[in-house]
Amino acid sequence: EASAAVKETRLSPQVLKPEGPATVLAIGTSVPPNVFEQKAYPDFFFRVTNCSQKMELKEKFQRICEKSGIKKRHFYLTEEILRSNPSVCTYKEPSLDLRQEIAVVEVPKLAKEAALNAIKEWGQPRSKITHIVFATTSGVDMPGADFRLAKMLGLRPTVKRVMLYQQGCYAGATVLRIAKDLAENNKGARVLVTCSEVTAVTFRAPSENHLDGLVGSALFGDGAAALIIGSDPAAQVERPLFEIHWAGQMVLPESDGAINGHLREAGLIFHLLKDVPGLISKNIDKVLAEAMEYAHFPSYNDLFWAVHPGGPAILDQMEAKLGLSMDKLQASRDILASYGNMSSASVLFVLDRIRRRSEEMQLPSNGEGCEWGFVIGFGPGLTVEALMLRTI
Ligand code: CAA
Repeated sequence: EASAAVKETRLSPQVLKPEGPATVLAIGTSVPPNVFEQKAYPDFFFRVTNCSQKMELKEKFQRICEKSGIKKRHFYLTEEILRSNPSVCTYKEPSLDLRQEIAVVEVPKLAKEAALNAIKEWGQPRSKITHIVFATTSGVDMPGADFRLAKMLGLRPTVKRVMLYQQGCYAGATVLRIAKDLAENNKGARVLVTCSEVTAVTFRAPSENHLDGLVGSALFGDGAAALIIGSDPAAQVERPLFEIHWAGQMVLPESDGAINGHLREAGLIFHLLKDVPGLISKNIDKVLAEAMEYAHFPSYNDLFWAVHPGGPAILDQMEAKLGLSMDKLQASRDILASYGNMSSASVLFVLDRIRRRSEEMQLPSNGEGCEWGFVIGFGPGLTVEALMLRTI
């Protein structure tokens, strides 16, 4: 039986709840200007790390790069920066201070560019931003990247911040889940959501003792994405792109240790088991089952799919498992080709790509013509985090 205290009406102003679901009001992205072509990357990578004599390892890296589905990636790091910081170019020399100095400055800076693009599309004054939800796997600091971003954007000192460090790639979906709860429980809330990643924390020389490290070196890239989320959009003023209707998270069975990241004196060190694509595809339908029921079981091919482009094998195996037609994961493949795996930011780039493709192809909805669709992130755990969106 509920106690008398619990029965009382809440007195806080948050009791005023919006009527509608959280909506995506704008999306912005940004990448550093420095571009590396994937074709030329093996030569550059082995040269700058003084490993050109490791021919066999280099050939293996070349094979991974060729199969990566990536054409180019953007990095904050340049040859000049790497040459003047040799400890970052070894396999495991202590270099955390240096990596932290870069990440602490560059992560919020990249987020700021993405946020300015989102705010421009939103068209509203920054003073209307009530909350920030910020995720990065690149570095840690106090006060955090959320604090720096709020200062750089000149947001109100009363803006309410949530900072998520070291979640890995699934955080692109986590930020949306948290923003949904904030937007649906606080009338007038306008949440600036952002994910920003720089590979300066993971860059290191190749090693025969860490072959999965080669996969990371071939895949990861820098980028930031920002969204404005809010309920009850102002008519004729705000132009919502998607409604967020369902959010869920699941730890996959028997997947312990499949993706790990450990912050050490030598920076952030990733481990990936070969079975990551298999584990995800084997379980993906279980993750989505509750949401499918919610949307009255549409066919998978009647949905749009914003899937974290962790690697081509993950997209291929998910496509096969769910019986998706060829074009369903095109936005994920486009983002992988142009930017690589930008960890948490990737899936938000994919959502942006989906609405832009819809415009380019003059399809009847922002979701490539579909009414419902998924945003799916995954990362350490293995954790899969998913949201179900509806186009407007
Ligand atoms: N560890 C070590 N080696 C690996 C490997 C792994 N996890 N995965 C593949 N390889 C090696 C293979 O053994 C093979 O070596 P040889 O050429 O010497 O035989 C080489 O890579 C190429 O593999 P395949 O010939 O099987 O080619 P492929 O079509 O599978 O493409 C790939 C290779 C691009 C790496 C592909 O397997 C892939 O996309 N894998 C998934 C990558 C992955 O796990 N991504 C998740 C990243 S983590 C993340 O996104 C979330 C986060 O939180 C950071």
